[in-house]
Amino acid sequence: MFQDPLDTVFLVENTKTRRLGARWVFEKETPSTNDLARQLANEQAPEGTVVIAEAQSKGKGRQGRSWNSPAQGGLYLSILLYPPTTQETVPFLTLLAGVAAVNALKDCCEASLKWPNDLLVQHKKLCGILCEYLPDTTPGPAAVIGVGINVHQNISDFPQELQETATSLLMEAGRHIPRTTIAHRLVIALDQEYGELLNSGSPQLIRKWSERSQMFGKEVTLTQGPRTVQGVVKRLDSQGRLVLETSQGEEAFSAGETSLKK
Ligand code: BTN
Repeated sequence: MFQDPLDTVFLVENTKTRRLGARWVFEKETPSTNDLARQLANEQAPEGTVVIAEAQSKGKGRQGRSWNSPAQGGLYLSILLYPPTTQETVPFLTLLAGVAAVNALKDCCEASLKWPNDLLVQHKKLCGILCEYLPDTTPGPAAVIGVGINVHQNISDFPQELQETATSLLMEAGRHIPRTTIAHRLVIALDQEYGELLNSGSPQLIRKWSERSQMFGKEVTLTQGPRTVQGVVKRLDSQGRLVLETSQGEEAFSAGETSLKK
């Protein structure tokens, strides 16, 4: 894999933010940056702690899947937050992270959002987001936003089963973009969107998310546990749920996996 160690000093000294980056934790390798952030929450690490690893040995994806995390191949980053109104805010953190990631990558490629939170370029997955809610931390509930971005992979660097469906910034932009640049932009963008959510509430976030998605009006298959539903995507509702027009009428979904017809 391309050698691209993170410039940790640059990140700590030059990432100007309000809430995020209160503490930075860099690891050469860890099982999962989300798990490390969870552990740090139990040790009362401050809000805005950023955890980045050069490699993950057990990177976690949604729905119990793994996240391919070769050393210096991608960016593996988690943020620890203590949202003030946890119940209301947490469902929106996933949407917020998607908007921030699209914004952070806009100079490199034009990514669009697939609900609940994949970043796609031409139907291929560039970035995944895993938000976890930690209700039992002291002094109060916490949340972890985990973002994985494929950066330096060529198609042959992905495991066989991902080669049809994954892409990287190298493949999309045609050049190696330093992970330090991506991490810097991403933390600033996450800080901005989190601040806006706290100050202005969720309607603005729903609008921004919708502007960055190409799902609306398209037919999707949504899988929720054993249930599979086909429908046309109408909108996100005020709770961030995906509203589908199905053969039975409109239905709003708060969880599930969507696949778009190409
Ligand atoms: C998905 O699309 O399934 C979500 C992938 C999330 C991957 C990131 S990498 C950083 C953080 N640590 C993890 O173990 N997972 C998330």
